[in-house]
Amino acid sequence: MTQPEPEDPLVCICGHVSETKVLQARDRGIRSVNELRKETGANSGCGDCRWDLEDLLGISP
Ligand code: FES
Repeated sequence: MTQPEPEDPLVCICGHVSETKVLQARDRGIRSVNELRKETGANSGCGDCRWDLEDLLGISP
């Protein structure tokens, strides 16, 4: 039996933004949740993902 590929976990469920998308944005130079929101739509709903997004972007609180 073959194992399914591990899914790219969603960091922002509301905006349907995956971890890979956030890391790609970081590689393009995105360094704030505001910029990320404009680019990807992440953190445009409930706001619960903010800390995870900051973590992935490497922003220290
Ligand atoms: S999970 Fe990102 S805004 Fe709701």
